[in-house]
Amino acid sequence: MTITESIEVALTLYQNRLKQGIQVIRRYDAHVLLLLCNPDELTQVWVNLIDNALYAMGQQGSLEIVVAQRHDRIVVEITDSGCGISLETQTRIFEPFFTTKPRGEGSGLGLDIVRQIVQKHNGDIQVQSQPGRTTFTLLLPIMS
Ligand SMILES: Nc1ncnc2c1ncn2[C@@H]1O[C@H](COP(=O)(O)OP(=O)(O)OP(=O)(O)O)[C@@H](O)[C@H]1O
Ligand SMILES: [Mg+2]
Repeated sequence: MTITESIEVALTLYQNRLKQGIQVIRRYDAHVLLLLCNPDELTQVWVNLIDNALYAMGQQGSLEIVVAQRHDRIVVEITDSGCGISLETQTRIFEPFFTTKPRGEGSGLGLDIVRQIVQKHNGDIQVQSQPGRTTFTLLLPIMS
């Protein structure tokens, strides 16, 4: 499975919610090499990031997904037009059980799982956020 295929699997899982007012913008570089890693784990990463993005946007917004290659790394950027994450909150989002969602709506484990999977693949994850524009950037090494 290629990296874009694993992203498409995750998007399919959210198909119904995406149809209702969320615009998905795909910017996939066609020349990205195949990434050797566990496809199920990778899908889990996209599911968690898309889930958070959709929650932040509510009924309407845009979700932009960029897949590109920089030197020996694949870069994936997932940007949503949602509420954003304050600087104070940004320092805590990768902590297990940290959530700002009401009881019963989030366990706070999503980004902890993402961080663990990314680390296992010797990757890196960064966040940049302001109201109306939040980007999670993933860097994954291409293994030969
Ligand atoms: N795209 C985003 N926009 C705004 N806030 C976000 C975004 N992604 C994450 N967050 C913030 O980070 C917190 C932690 O995210 P995380 O995915 O770990 O847990 P959760 O979404 O609250 O619960 P779970 O993923 O277990 O359902 C969220 O509660 C939210 O405050
Ligand atoms: Mg989450």
